[in-house]
Amino acid sequence: MADYAIRRCTREDAETIASLGARLFVQAYGPTHPEPDRSAYLAKAYSVEVIAEAIEGEGSSVLVVEDSHAAPIAYAHMSATMEVPPGVDGRRAFEIVRFYVDSAYQGRGIGAKLMNHCCDVARQAGGDVIWLQTWSQASWAIGFYLRIGFRIVGKKPFYFGQRIDEDHVMARAL
Ligand SMILES: CC(C)(COP(=O)(O)OP(=O)(O)OC[C@H]1O[C@@H](n2cnc3c(N)ncnc32)[C@H](O)[C@@H]1OP(=O)(O)O)[C@@H](O)C(=O)NCCC(=O)NCCS
Repeated sequence: MADYAIRRCTREDAETIASLGARLFVQAYGPTHPEPDRSAYLAKAYSVEVIAEAIEGEGSSVLVVEDSHAAPIAYAHMSATMEVPPGVDGRRAFEIVRFYVDSAYQGRGIGAKLMNHCCDVARQAGGDVIWLQTWSQASWAIGFYLRIGFRIVGKKPFYFGQRIDEDHVMARAL
């Protein structure tokens, strides 16, 4: 991944990550998560305030992948978990709250490198398990997570407008 660099975001990155996050959500889930609920979801999940809290909140961090021109092309939000969902086995758990690679850069190993980096950050903070929830219809994401060592261990609801999907909970021991 020579042409790319991963770094931890600071408060100054909040606007950039809010806009990247909303753009990559629409890119990946636009067709299956339409208006009018989409705008409401984006406003709630990707406001600058919400992203600033993800960057600066206790036990929380956002990692960004930038290309050789410092343009952001992928990001992950991870957070220490107080309430671990059933099926996730560990004493100190970290959740991957968001994990997105721009479609123009997918399939080049960037997702795998970013996840390794997240696991290193979690281990350094004493983590022994990492977990996430993913849409049960997102076969590409599920396949990716299975290939890099995650297992489906449970389920959790995802709220989108009036819709409630039953997401997979996936976990990987560190
Ligand atoms: C799921 C996702 C994060 C994977 O990221 P990615 O960067 O494409 O993942 P990688 O490139 O590391 O791995 C994907 C594939 O590329 C292959 N690959 C890895 N390095 C490669 C390289 N240097 N050149 C070409 N292919 C490579 C991997 O072997 C893998 O192939 P496979 O699927 O046939 O096994 C990405 O598809 C994504 O952001 N999707 C949309 C958003 C989303 O659904 N996020 C998850 C929300 S829970």
